[in-house]
Amino acid sequence: MSKKLYIETLGCAMNVRDSERMIAELTTKEGYEVTTDKKEADLILINTCSVREKPVHKLFSEVGGFLKEKKEGAKIGVCGCTASHLGSEIFKRAPQVDFVLGARNISRITEAIKTPKFISNDINYDESDFAFADFRNSIYKSYVNIMIGCDKHCAYCIVPHTRGDELSIPKNIILNEVKKAVSNGASEVFLLGQNVNNYGKRFSSNHSKMDFSDLLNEISEVDGLERIRFTSPHPLHMDDKFLETFAKNPKICKSMHMPLQSGSTSILKAMKRGYTREWFINRALKLRELVPSASISTDIIVAFPGESDEDFELTLDVMRKIRFEQIFSFKYSKRPLTPAATMPNQIPENIASARLTKLQSLYNEILDEISAAQLNKTYKVYFEELRENQTIAGRSDNNFLIVVNGSEELLGKMVDVKITKTSRTTLYGEIQS
Ligand code: SAH
Ligand code: SF4
Ligand code: F3S
Repeated sequence: MSKKLYIETLGCAMNVRDSERMIAELTTKEGYEVTTDKKEADLILINTCSVREKPVHKLFSEVGGFLKEKKEGAKIGVCGCTASHLGSEIFKRAPQVDFVLGARNISRITEAIKTPKFISNDINYDESDFAFADFRNSIYKSYVNIMIGCDKHCAYCIVPHTRGDELSIPKNIILNEVKKAVSNGASEVFLLGQNVNNYGKRFSSNHSKMDFSDLLNEISEVDGLERIRFTSPHPLHMDDKFLETFAKNPKICKSMHMPLQSGSTSILKAMKRGYTREWFINRALKLRELVPSASISTDIIVAFPGESDEDFELTLDVMRKIRFEQIFSFKYSKRPLTPAATMPNQIPENIASARLTKLQSLYNEILDEISAAQLNKTYKVYFEELRENQTIAGRSDNNFLIVVNGSEELLGKMVDVKITKTSRTTLYGEIQS
């Protein structure tokens, strides 16, 4: 009988891809089979996130839960971003954990399972050209890493301390991954990195010079590939060449993530974001002008240390000017190893909560208007997820979530859908023949 692997993934798309890679290594090289029942697992992995305080608490409560439920002799491994920065501290706080594997060390998973109290959490361990075995949760949703790490060191962010310095992955590896995904049935790929539009600045071996726009154009030539998405680009690197490539290349999905963080130049400066409020607005309006159908999503942090009512109003003002189709908003969370954690003027919790509520209610107002305006429009939808009650979900090119009645035979297909009903987060429609 094969050994069983249970894996829980917290955090961002990068962690989802890292989990796929660990599954790939363990199933192809060590004979494991994935289970969704932790009680029957021989190996339990938790792939952790550190970006805010909450998911770190979750790690230790989850490990406690695993210990109660796991079968005798089952091993527990803590992987990912929290493993990177807490390292051996994890053994101290949870002595039953068998190994600790940092976010940039996951290629060592087969070694980790065989070595008592194995630990590898070097944040600059170079995995940029490691040939991982192949596995994807869904053939339709194919993540492809194009870079690892981050050089930006935004004052609030722990990611550079968990994923190390920025390294671009060589172009030939990326193109091979894209071709493999397409030959396995994907029409769309999702390129991943912390600052994708800074691609090509540093490789771990000799590599010809190229930037993200060049990379996008080369990827778009892969036969059979119809759509390219990517996350996250950085507003600082949104030069004209990048915006024009985004606008002109028909295979690039017309959905851009533009993480604003704050609409106040003085807060952006304290955050070390490298751009001003004016630059951000200029780039977003230029994008709206070049591609009127594009949707723009953003990330916003409220209550960064020193944020005044006026600073916060400036963030609301950018919301009203740009009318983002989607926002991910967070209360500032103090993270170890980051300069913002020791800044004076930390904002009290009640003010942070009130600001978040205000921001989200403005967003909901805007979103209700945007959603209602989609009625009777027709979008080409790439179907990728079966839902309950004989319905199936997919995304338009500009990233609206669209649900229709339908079943399996629509999976992986690109079909025109007319919107017949709208709600805040989902559009419903009928297939056009
Ligand atoms: N590289 C990406 C972000 C990755 S982290 C970028 O620059 O856009 C995802 C989001 O988490 C960030 O955009 C930010 O909004 C949020 N975040 C990061 N650190 C945070 C912290 N200390 N408190 C609250 N939110 C944070
Ligand atoms: Fe964090 Fe800033 Fe890097 Fe994004 S760009 S991962 S927010 S340090
Ligand atoms: Fe992602 Fe969380 Fe790490 S957001 S990069 S898994 S800290």
